[in-house]
Amino acid sequence: MYYGFIVKLPATSLLHHKIDNKHNTRPMENLPFYQEINNEAEIFEHAWRNKLPLLLKGPTGCGKSRFVEFMAGKLNRKLVTISCHEETSSTDLIGRFIIKGAETVWVDGPMTTAVKEGAILYLDELAEARPDVIVAIHSLTDHRRELFIDKLGETIKANPNFMLVASFNPGYQKGFKELKPSTRQRFIALSFQYPEAKTETNILEKESGIDHSNAKKIVAIGNKIRNLTELGLAETVSTRLLVDASVLIHSGLAKRQSMHVAVVEPLTDDEHTTTSLKDLCDLMI
Ligand SMILES: Nc1ncnc2c1ncn2[C@@H]1O[C@H](COP(=O)(O)OP(=O)(O)O)[C@@H](O)[C@H]1O
Ligand SMILES: [Mg+2]
Repeated sequence: MYYGFIVKLPATSLLHHKIDNKHNTRPMENLPFYQEINNEAEIFEHAWRNKLPLLLKGPTGCGKSRFVEFMAGKLNRKLVTISCHEETSSTDLIGRFIIKGAETVWVDGPMTTAVKEGAILYLDELAEARPDVIVAIHSLTDHRRELFIDKLGETIKANPNFMLVASFNPGYQKGFKELKPSTRQRFIALSFQYPEAKTETNILEKESGIDHSNAKKIVAIGNKIRNLTELGLAETVSTRLLVDASVLIHSGLAKRQSMHVAVVEPLTDDEHTTTSLKDLCDLMI
């Protein structure tokens, strides 16, 4: 059985059970680094305060998860992240009976814990979730804000601080799943894109410690590859890969080799595409 979830507590893990906006935001210096792009922090905060579920749309590696970690820290909420996929069932998430000695005891799953404790529940790649998981979240995403635990025959009301956030990568690869309109329309939605050059350069510098001039070159290569639509790559180069390249360069690996292993190889297995992308990198750094 696979449990695709991580529970992260903010450094100061105060769990407030009343929403008191003035006193439960954390000072910026204790938060994970997040470069805001388009007023998304304010939107998130309003969604949280008004108990509206939030959908983050955007390609892989563009900062969705980092944003949620940042907001959980800022709002001083525990963050429960669940990577949705075929093997994660609603039982894994809601809970199950386990045998302990001669007794059978109930153990809450991560979703139930998040609902009870008022955490931020982040369902990563919601479109990959099984239908039983989607059904389980329906009553959490509307005015009811409750979770039905079928194995106990119990319905639990969400803690007032509870918030549901999901991510979705729209039509990024053939064969990947779509979200049903009936699910999509339960969320307000925010669109993420790879940041513009200046912002992305700053992210590379902050994330890796690389100098400005090399960061600029790496971002230029990234944008060049993003514009080469004729290559027909399944997915283009993400901010995450550019950060990885910067980390390797900053750590002392040769620049070209860093670009090859962090940017080119993860994008393609095609021999010709690999050669042309490597040439492009070698020319630009
Ligand atoms: N706006 C941003 N601020 C800070 N770091 C960012 C930002 N966008 C992307 N990153 C960097 O890119 C990496 C991948 O982002 P992540 O949030 O994991 O992507 P996603 O969840 O969209 O796949 C992060 O670990 C971080 O280094
Ligand atoms: Mg992510």
